[in-house]
Amino acid sequence: MKEAALLKQTVKALMQGQLRAAQDPHRPAWHLAPSVGLLNDPNGFIQFDGDFHLFYQWNPLACAHGAKFWGHWRSADLVHWQHEPIALVPSEEYESHGCYSGSAVDNDGVLTLIYTGNVKFAEGRTAWQCLATLEEDGSCRKLGPVLALPEGYSGHVRDPKVWRHDDGQWYMVLGAQNLAGEGKVLLLRSGDLHSWQLLGEIAGSQLNGLGDFGYMWECPDLFRLGNHDILITCPQGLAPQPKRWLNTFQSGYFIGELDYQHARFPHGEFHELDLGFEFYAPQTTASSDGRRLLFGWMGIPDGDEFYQPTLAYGWIHQMTCPRELTLEQGSLRQRPARELQQLRRSPLTLQGAAQQLEPLDISSAELLIQPEGVLTLHFADALRLSWDGKELQLSRRNPRSGVEEHRYWHGSLARLHIFCDRSSIEIFINDGEAVMSSRYFPTVTPQLRLEGETNVRLHYWRLEAGM
Ligand code: FRU
Repeated sequence: MKEAALLKQTVKALMQGQLRAAQDPHRPAWHLAPSVGLLNDPNGFIQFDGDFHLFYQWNPLACAHGAKFWGHWRSADLVHWQHEPIALVPSEEYESHGCYSGSAVDNDGVLTLIYTGNVKFAEGRTAWQCLATLEEDGSCRKLGPVLALPEGYSGHVRDPKVWRHDDGQWYMVLGAQNLAGEGKVLLLRSGDLHSWQLLGEIAGSQLNGLGDFGYMWECPDLFRLGNHDILITCPQGLAPQPKRWLNTFQSGYFIGELDYQHARFPHGEFHELDLGFEFYAPQTTASSDGRRLLFGWMGIPDGDEFYQPTLAYGWIHQMTCPRELTLEQGSLRQRPARELQQLRRSPLTLQGAAQQLEPLDISSAELLIQPEGVLTLHFADALRLSWDGKELQLSRRNPRSGVEEHRYWHGSLARLHIFCDRSSIEIFINDGEAVMSSRYFPTVTPQLRLEGETNVRLHYWRLEAGM
């Protein structure tokens, strides 16, 4: 369908749906969520001319994974965001089934987007890697495809993440599936963003000692952090293990060294980036002050998403909060972006036996908790976090089966840093050693109740709406 017709339908969907969506009690106060329709991956995250830009996978026409548009938000401070004109509409033949995920670069003063044009046929599919530029008036100008399917791969080749290396060349990592049905990450090089040379497979199933490691790797991202290179990717097809890899698809990282000359990436083991129920397809960028920032999608493809009550209000899914990444003693840490402190209001410090503390309003709140012993946190009637001295367990009832499900972290617990926003929770463990992100849908006013005889020390802030 052509651009004008798609835009007309989008305006109609927005005009008819946005008030209803805004009235949803589960709608976030300060996280990014779609005005209407379905949001998934963060795309094109960049700080450009001072401002942060975050694009996103968006189907404005339905709460379903149909043809994907790119929506666009802009912010001066990572916390207060404004809508920008719709960036990409899947109107051309080379993107007929979606302007799929991709990234943004600063090409000598031109904000340039690199994304996947996804095309489905009656049988099979193909994919084009495409360019677009952001214009003065906030619209995007499409430059068309610059890369067809490389030989030896199925139609599942997507999600380009591009950066400029010290040698002045552009490099791209691309998620791919080979003809044997193995997930891979490809490395490509270009001098001008238009003509690309495939250098090789740098990671994937059957590579770097991994064995069988999934049938498709989505949304790769590669960047330098500390003295190492980090490859983030989302392998699909890993069998669940008793206490890890429990979501439908995983999102994690490898630490290694990228050999740009020989396209090799010897790396260590796969670590999950987030241990909660909803986290996928994260994307990072470098801020002008030298930080590595990340947004993730607080959702999972093919999860239990189509039971979420926000559907009744015509929208589904949201982003995580922005996070800062560091590499400390060989492991990745994620902390909430420091800019979020702007939202803090009404500080409160409490100390005492857990079960004697008054329930706290957590509809939009930040908490720092130092538990001294066994403790359970009840997030309204929808989610529970229990610490038994060895294991942290996040529990909730599966909306489809009614069975209670758990996610786990093991270690020595010193501190929990928790962000609640209406229907989402992000739990940072021990100053960013691990994170658990989850949606949850209370049927009562959201309050936190503590259970346990142990003493706790707790800092609390109400968080101001950010939009
Ligand atoms: C990940 C993903 C990407 C794809 C996009 C489509 O969630 O499947 O691989 O580009 O979503 O919306």
